[in-house]
Amino acid sequence: MPARPRRRPDALGPETLHAGDNLAFMKQLPDGCCDLIYLDPPFFTNQPRRAPAGRHAARINNMKRIGADTRESGYDDRWPDGLRGYLTFMQPRLEQCSRLLPEHGTLYLHGDWRAAHHLRIMLDDVFGEKNFLNEIIWHYRTGGIATRWFGRKHDTILAYARRLGRHRFHALRGGTYRTDGLNHDETGRPYKNTRRGRLYFHRDGPILTDVWDIPFLSTVSRERVAWPTQKPLALLERIIQASSNPGDRVADFFCGSGTTLVAARRLGRTCIGCDLAARAIAITGQRLRAIGAATLPPPPTEMKAAPARPPGRPPRRPPSNPRSG
Ligand SMILES: C[S@@+](CC[C@H](N)C(=O)[O-])C[C@H]1O[C@@H](n2cnc3c(N)ncnc32)[C@H](O)[C@@H]1O
Repeated sequence: MPARPRRRPDALGPETLHAGDNLAFMKQLPDGCCDLIYLDPPFFTNQPRRAPAGRHAARINNMKRIGADTRESGYDDRWPDGLRGYLTFMQPRLEQCSRLLPEHGTLYLHGDWRAAHHLRIMLDDVFGEKNFLNEIIWHYRTGGIATRWFGRKHDTILAYARRLGRHRFHALRGGTYRTDGLNHDETGRPYKNTRRGRLYFHRDGPILTDVWDIPFLSTVSRERVAWPTQKPLALLERIIQASSNPGDRVADFFCGSGTTLVAARRLGRTCIGCDLAARAIAITGQRLRAIGAATLPPPPTEMKAAPARPPGRPPRRPPSNPRSG
């Protein structure tokens, strides 16, 4: 079959949505058209994933608020060919991501203990080990108690630059300092008394590291819609703020309920979303249309970008690449 002609970059609007297989869709897109890609694929749970919309009043109310229908919804995460089949599925999609990113672009790939270690090796191969940025640990507290091992309460998000040194990155500040004896001056700025006088700390909090404590969406969260494995907006807002600029194009080719696209639009980026399930795309469209409604939670304020490096100083390579210890 002859290859389909690729879309022109200017044919992509501020919001491009596609229902269907993401590999075929990605192949239609022009090289370097996405500044940032976040992927949240099935995690190789080997289970059907269902969100019974009717069970929780909050979820059903949110669905009604954005005008979505409230039937049960979900997707299949079963792999009859096992891990080999899963990795064979992922490989060409990661290769396409590499093609779609320009030199300043970044990929974030979300997984967990089941397959993240295999995906990291695959990304080393596709993006190059030297372009590894982070293995982010998203730590959350959910129900369920493990008694035969420690409770598995984190996901792994792998970040790779298309080309290290050319990639966009804004260090972010937030949270609180974990230090004893912190005082606040009359303007609210934190400091510590030392023998040499006051040692001041940044008022926006410490620079964020690669361990993130962001609450999981509870079943009664105001953000919840009827899509299983929906991620919190706060998680995507952090990724988008760190690795893109206003006006950039953010893509999510496993977009589910559209969390990435909603976060991107709230932060002044354009977006591309794709999902195999037509219903996921319908929910995404409804969430996007609902942006601006007074009932949406306000955009984040707690994250502050650290000041940019003074002009003229070349960017340094990350001092301690976790790979080299
Ligand atoms: C973990 S969920 C994404 C959840 C999303 N991040 C959210 O916040 O709602 C994975 C998604 O991948 C979609 N998917 C699975 N195979 C796909 C394929 N070949 N092409 C496009 N989407 C696919 C599923 O329908 C599902 O919505």
